[in-house]
Amino acid sequence: MNTPTSQDVLNSNELVTEFTTLAEKQTEAFTGISINKDITAKELKLRAGCCVNNIGSEIHRRVKHLNRIALELLNGLICFKELILENVLNCKMFTGNYPLLIEHIIREAKLYRGYVEVLERDGCLSEACMRDTECFWNQIMMEHALFIRGLLDPTEVELINTADEFAANYEKLLEACHTAHGRTLTDSSLTETLKFRDFKTAGAQGITGCEIRSVILPLLADHVLREANHYIRLLTV
Ligand SMILES: [Fe+2]
Repeated sequence: MNTPTSQDVLNSNELVTEFTTLAEKQTEAFTGISINKDITAKELKLRAGCCVNNIGSEIHRRVKHLNRIALELLNGLICFKELILENVLNCKMFTGNYPLLIEHIIREAKLYRGYVEVLERDGCLSEACMRDTECFWNQIMMEHALFIRGLLDPTEVELINTADEFAANYEKLLEACHTAHGRTLTDSSLTETLKFRDFKTAGAQGITGCEIRSVILPLLADHVLREANHYIRLLTV
């Protein structure tokens, strides 16, 4: 894996997609939860920066401060999610979210915390073992397929069958990852994830356009698409 540039990140559509702005508005209206849409508006204005060597001490200090706040928030958020999971698994709390979804977002938050900790300690992310990256994200993609199939209306038979196929294919890739002994499966993971990206794009389009019957919030549909875009960038850059 090469070191990604900020332009690679902007090109990947992992920060914002063509659906994000609408999905945020719709999700806010459906749930009554206020969403700070300014973040997406600012992300749309992001431009790739100049080379890292030009970063002055003031920016360095501000990023360090930001990372410290991010770590505090992450620690609190991870504890909060773990508490919810424990309560749900002990039948002390009910939620419309699958327990696996809560485990899934705990793993993602821990991965992010790991990145921030390494950045703070070493100043850059070391080249992660691609096999570990593929194991992590193939599991995430498999679980997305399972969540999608479980949140679609039972009448959406064709979409449910397609989601089941993706889940089965990622399960095979995940098994192969765990027994790969250091080898990577990048080509197979990429081929599958490009197809899954297209499926998720059609899903986000159908859900924001009110053409798919489901209990999937528009912002969740957009979110899983952005994660596929992120994984594709990791596999290609
Ligand atoms: Fe996810």
